[in-house]
Amino acid sequence: MCGIVGYVGNGPIVSILTDGLKRLEYRGYDSAGIAVASENGLRVEKAVGKVKSLEAKIHADWPDFDSVPHGAGIAHTRWATHGAPLEKNAHPHLDEKGRFAVVHNGIIENYSSLRANLIRKGHVFSSETDTEVIPHLIEECFEGDLVKAVTAALKQLEGTFGIAVVSPQFPDRLVVARRGSPIVVGVCDNEAVVASDVSAIISHTKQVIYLNDNDIALITKDSIDLRNIDNVPVTREISHIDWDAGAAEKSGYEHFMLKEIWEQPLSLANTLRGRLDENGATAVLNGLNLGPKDFASTSRILIAACGTSLHAGMLGDYFFEDLADLPTEFEQAAEFRYRNPIIQPGSLVVAISQSGETADTLAAVREAARKGASVAAICNVVGSTIARESGAGIYLHAGPEIGVASTKAFSCQVAALLMMALKFGRARRLSREEGLEIIDELKKLPDKISQVLASSSHIEAVAEKYACAENFFYIGRGYLYPAALEGALKLKEISYIHAEGYHAAELKHGPIALLEEKVPVLALACEIPGKDKMIGNIQECRARKSPVIAVSTIGDKEMAEHADDIISIPQASPYLTPILAVVAMQLFAYYVAKKRNCAIDQPRNLAKSVTVE
Ligand code: G6P
Repeated sequence: MCGIVGYVGNGPIVSILTDGLKRLEYRGYDSAGIAVASENGLRVEKAVGKVKSLEAKIHADWPDFDSVPHGAGIAHTRWATHGAPLEKNAHPHLDEKGRFAVVHNGIIENYSSLRANLIRKGHVFSSETDTEVIPHLIEECFEGDLVKAVTAALKQLEGTFGIAVVSPQFPDRLVVARRGSPIVVGVCDNEAVVASDVSAIISHTKQVIYLNDNDIALITKDSIDLRNIDNVPVTREISHIDWDAGAAEKSGYEHFMLKEIWEQPLSLANTLRGRLDENGATAVLNGLNLGPKDFASTSRILIAACGTSLHAGMLGDYFFEDLADLPTEFEQAAEFRYRNPIIQPGSLVVAISQSGETADTLAAVREAARKGASVAAICNVVGSTIARESGAGIYLHAGPEIGVASTKAFSCQVAALLMMALKFGRARRLSREEGLEIIDELKKLPDKISQVLASSSHIEAVAEKYACAENFFYIGRGYLYPAALEGALKLKEISYIHAEGYHAAELKHGPIALLEEKVPVLALACEIPGKDKMIGNIQECRARKSPVIAVSTIGDKEMAEHADDIISIPQASPYLTPILAVVAMQLFAYYVAKKRNCAIDQPRNLAKSVTVE
């Protein structure tokens, strides 16, 4: 999705802005642009495609770009919504007099009526975007005070925004504001940097301020003046980022996705650290802000999430019901927010989001809070909107996840959900022995993942054999059913192969009609309950000539009779086998995509963090 970077100070503005944009490239985008306000006036450059195309254009058109006197600049990577990815639609957008330049993330829902009004007043538009109304509105409202003009403009907007504004009349100022789309302000000495995502700030400072909705900040190199939309001064706490810029770099791996797959033993160890209590045979999850009575009296859990996080949530549903006798439902977050869910006293809504910014998941949190539910968030990004608005939850501490296809966040989310179910289970019905068994399994998990990773060259060989397929089925049962959905999602996301995840029993209710020798089936047939039935389902596939790749348990000699190829993972409990199977399928998808020469870290049409509905 779109990314914003802003800078004010004496540094080499253009390089700082383009470097910031590069750190946001992972989010997915189709065009980029910058605007710099200095005593030389306003300079704008835009390009379709990658940030390097923008840089090439700057180098060609603006030879002395790095001698810009101190000033303020904004930059943007755009993921097209209103208007095709063309240069005229790339941000920054300006009013026709070139007095104000704006970059914007989010969607302005009432832009057509605002645009029609502005055109009636003589404004001339040059793009098809919703964003362009903002600089024109600022120009219309301007009476000498930049912040007042921005505030007056924002009051007319419906929808969501994170914006940054500069003006050549005020080359020492940067104004940022948010409603629904994140803006982070880096606290530095003698300069200031802002962005929509901390990755673009971390090389400057680890001290950041997350704006709340309807906050507006006037930023100079020496000051950050925070107000709300009613011009009342507000204070926001300074948060400390606990990872380094190096964590958001590839560190010798060919792709971020591969790096993040390999990081999983460490990420999991970080998710688990300090949270397993062997004395009490339970988990320590203080961030949930729940006391013993709350654990016992919660009567229902509703899980809301999207994408990979939803697949983790499906496993959470099994955990809470199996370990804690807690009726649980999971739901795609967009469905949750719009279908008027029933929330009774005793309901706990669990929102799962790696980024903590997914628009639908955030809206589900707000809907749940409006209805009086307790909300707990499972997020990776510290200080993200979902984490802050939920007020309670579990941070994954998995480190930054840059690859668009989520990998390490999934395994850490599942581990966090299992710890949460353990905590609820121990407060309700789970015996001490059962609790200790789960703790023991969790402790062994990082090593078992390392064992899966150690077989990556075998997985690569199998992947290369099937890389030409155009259709794929992934099937599983029980705990391995959500894992099958996640495996299929990984393949389609990065290799563009049409892959369907199905419950193995559902296959014969329609999809089996598609099976033939060109349609491989990846079957999750590990040594957990349901395996015997799975063998039957595999036979059904082979009878239709589909080649079968089985993910099975190390030492399962019988599987060779049933499958064309085998990927083996270590024996683990039913709760944790899905994580091991998913790690193997992440590698499988990665190597298929590599063989097909796909853009693994930035797959077409996808965004890392989906901040629009
Ligand atoms: C996007 C990403 C997925 C991710 C989903 C939910 O679609 O491409 O990888 O699973 O958003 O993101 P979240 O940050 O809420 O977990």
